Amino acid sequence: MCGIIGAISKADVLPILLDGLKRLEYRGYDSSGLAIIQEKGSLSRLRAPGKLIELERTIDASEGIHGRTGIAHTRWATHGPPTENNAHPHVSGERIALVCNGIVENHEELRNWLVDEGMDFHSETDTEVIVNLIRLHMDRGSDFMSAVRESIGALKGAYALGIVNADEPGRIIGARRGSPLIVGVGKDETYLASDISALIAHTRDFIVLENGDIVDIDQNRVTITDLDGRPQDRDMRTSTLSPRSTELGNHRHYMEKEIHEQGQAASDTLEGRITARRVLEACFGTEAKRIFDKTRAIQILACGTSYHAGLVARYWLEDLGIPCQVEIASEFLSRKHAVPRDCLVVALSQSGETIDTLSSVAYAKECGYAHSLAICNAPDSSLVRDSELVLMTHAGPEIGVASTKAFVTQLVALRLFAIVMGRRAGLDMAEESKLVRELRELPARIESALELESAIQAIAEQFANKQHALFLGRGIHYPIALEGALKLKEISYVHAEAYPAGELKHGPLALVDSEMPVVSVAPNDMQLGKLKGNIEEVRARGGKLIVFADSDTRLSSRENLQVINVASVESSIAPIIFTIPLQLLAYHVALIKGTDIDKPRNLAKSVTVE
Ligand code: AGP
Repeated sequence: MCGIIGAISKADVLPILLDGLKRLEYRGYDSSGLAIIQEKGSLSRLRAPGKLIELERTIDASEGIHGRTGIAHTRWATHGPPTENNAHPHVSGERIALVCNGIVENHEELRNWLVDEGMDFHSETDTEVIVNLIRLHMDRGSDFMSAVRESIGALKGAYALGIVNADEPGRIIGARRGSPLIVGVGKDETYLASDISALIAHTRDFIVLENGDIVDIDQNRVTITDLDGRPQDRDMRTSTLSPRSTELGNHRHYMEKEIHEQGQAASDTLEGRITARRVLEACFGTEAKRIFDKTRAIQILACGTSYHAGLVARYWLEDLGIPCQVEIASEFLSRKHAVPRDCLVVALSQSGETIDTLSSVAYAKECGYAHSLAICNAPDSSLVRDSELVLMTHAGPEIGVASTKAFVTQLVALRLFAIVMGRRAGLDMAEESKLVRELRELPARIESALELESAIQAIAEQFANKQHALFLGRGIHYPIALEGALKLKEISYVHAEAYPAGELKHGPLALVDSEMPVVSVAPNDMQLGKLKGNIEEVRARGGKLIVFADSDTRLSSRENLQVINVASVESSIAPIIFTIPLQLLAYHVALIKGTDIDKPRNLAKSVTVE
């Protein structure tokens, strides 16, 4: 979603803002802009629809935009299309400029009131009401900070803001409610940003703002207060991210890089969490034992790919005797709950900033769910800060909008979780030791699965002119089929649907003809016999099958059936391994289709609005 960067320096901030915007690109956006207080004390603003290159062209064509205080923004359109007029920063009275990530829910009411008060609007956005509110309060005698406080007090919704006033160069005011915002602290430079990755070329020291914080920064000072002006104490953190960890290296796309990092990411997620025979329960936090001992059921909450990881975990947990429900976070929010006793909420999120997931965890607390565990990839995220128990996935920064290594590491983390919960339901030492041994082999098995790439590349050619595809899976591999279909639709724009193979005859079989590619995963498990039957049903109707099959299944290619053998693996890790070829297929189809793989249209990396 939208990205914010602001900087105050003794030198020109333009390069800092542009570098920050580039580093925020991964969040997803469709226009961008910046505003800088020029040396002569005037406010200059440039904006452009489309990719950052368009903003750079606009800057090159301008008379120049330089100064020591500025704010910049990548906008992911919500209210109004991605036009120049709707791009941020929004300006009022040529003096106040503001960038916002979030949604002002009562913007219509505020806009009507502001229009009655004589304020002009130049965009269709909800954000413009905030900058006009601030100006109105200043016109009526409030100082800059008071005007910000008065304006924020009138807002409903979630937002992160960065605001400059041309009459006060060297000062930026920021505010956070709901959407993420951090302050970066450098040497004679201070920054505001949506996340630390935007600042990593300049500093690793940062402060995470909490909901309700208002921050006032200058070149050497950071002051945090609440809406009523009471000082707020926030810790300084140091990021472990290195500027290189977000570099593309020799890869064509971040998605390609991240797919190939999955062996290492799995290994990093296991590191320090297992011995030769056991999962170390302490990795879930000091309170884990007490909470797990009294947990009788699990409720998993997540969105998108993270939801698919949750679906896989349900099979693992229930197989070990632990009742488990999985729900899409936004749906969980939409109804009342009959809360099971001693139920642990497990929230899964790569970013830890997905608003639906955050809200669903808060709602679960309100409803009376006992405790919460976050499985997350972003250590400084809201989810991690708000959860009682935390297990970090160590995927490293994931830049491609389509989640790959985050999914695989979520599955690794969930496997660890299933084992420690399984102990409470009778998993004995010998069984645990076997499962841990299988997990240890996972990184090497992932590397082997990646070797299928050239075979998959050839298969991807068959999708060059396709608009639709079906994905089939059974049992624990149905969520893997769902994930494969999501990957394909996200980055290649091929309409892909996944079905449990047993559902085929209940409707989707009507779609099968010689034009319809049908992708299936066929591990060597108890479902194989039935799956073979489903494969024949598709073949009999002329459907073109592509089956990723465990080499022990003895499935072989014949008319309308292409089999790609995946080296045989233990069933406990098979869903992770069968994910890899589906990711590679989506990647190579998108490559052939020539889409913007890392930043697919209309999507954002971190969905911070409802
Ligand atoms: C994955 O490819 C998607 N981009 C998306 O479904 C994502 O998984 C979802 O938005 C949840 O994000 P989170 O894991 O950061 O909460």
